[in-house]
Amino acid sequence: VRTDATETPNAAQPELCISCGHCLAICPADAVTHESFSDGSVTPVDMTLVPSYAQTLELLRSRRSVRLFTDAPVSREDVGRVLEAARLAPTAHNLQEVRYVVAQDKTLLAAIAKTTAAYFTGLAKQLRNPVARGLYRLALTRSEIDSATHMLPDFDYVAREFNAGRDPILHNAPCVIIAHSRRSVNFPEANASIALHNAALAAHAMGLGGFMLGYVTGACKRDLTIPRLLGIPSSHEVYAGLALGHPANNFTKWIRRKPLEVRWQ
Ligand SMILES: Cc1cc2nc3c(=O)[nH]c(=O)nc-3n(C[C@H](O)[C@H](O)[C@H](O)COP(=O)(O)O)c2cc1C
Repeated sequence: VRTDATETPNAAQPELCISCGHCLAICPADAVTHESFSDGSVTPVDMTLVPSYAQTLELLRSRRSVRLFTDAPVSREDVGRVLEAARLAPTAHNLQEVRYVVAQDKTLLAAIAKTTAAYFTGLAKQLRNPVARGLYRLALTRSEIDSATHMLPDFDYVAREFNAGRDPILHNAPCVIIAHSRRSVNFPEANASIALHNAALAAHAMGLGGFMLGYVTGACKRDLTIPRLLGIPSSHEVYAGLALGHPANNFTKWIRRKPLEVRWQ
């Protein structure tokens, strides 16, 4: 925004505007109007509610993946509050195009777990078969094959657990949030993951818990059964997922992470 001789703010390069709202959020005199933001779009920040660095770090340290849940369902109101945190996440080019499916139906959740377990059981078999492995070389990049091969013991564990009647995929979580978007946007995976991590932090602050659904997301990339079950449009892809529930355990300590590896230049 530039100010002209009459002190009226004008958009300097309107063709580049991505409706991020910075111009309205920063103007101390509320002198800026923008067609994307009607009355009621701009709210003063309550700095007393912004957590301190120490509070923020403790939130981040104390959030752990919860994989043991009580039988209590997550209320629609609580899912809504968690999704509000997702909605506030930044997106590349401010596109805000991440969409969500909330699955709570027990039959649907069981189908998601079963389809995912079957996918990874089949993948493990194929990666051990020299002919199928050769074909994978045509469809996947070398690093995709290497990382899948590295995961073979995990895929075997998934198969064993699932066959034993347990749920190694959703861990019987009562609620699953799947984030999807059009493929043809910049950084769709980052947009969805950042949004669902916002959601996970909000859930933790609310006393809920959960974990990121890497297995489910991975299965959705190559097997369209789950996206179809969830009614996800064919122009969209699943980029992240979050299981949610009421924790049946409590992490009362936080654990050291690997030391930072950083080069200052
Ligand atoms: C992209 C991503 C995918 C993940 N996928 C799964 C998953 O499919 N199943 C699972 O139980 N945990 C999954 N996790 C959780 C990680 O195992 C967990 O975040 C990690 O071990 C660190 O533990 P913490 O979350 O308790 O700090 C995933 C985490 C990320 C970031």
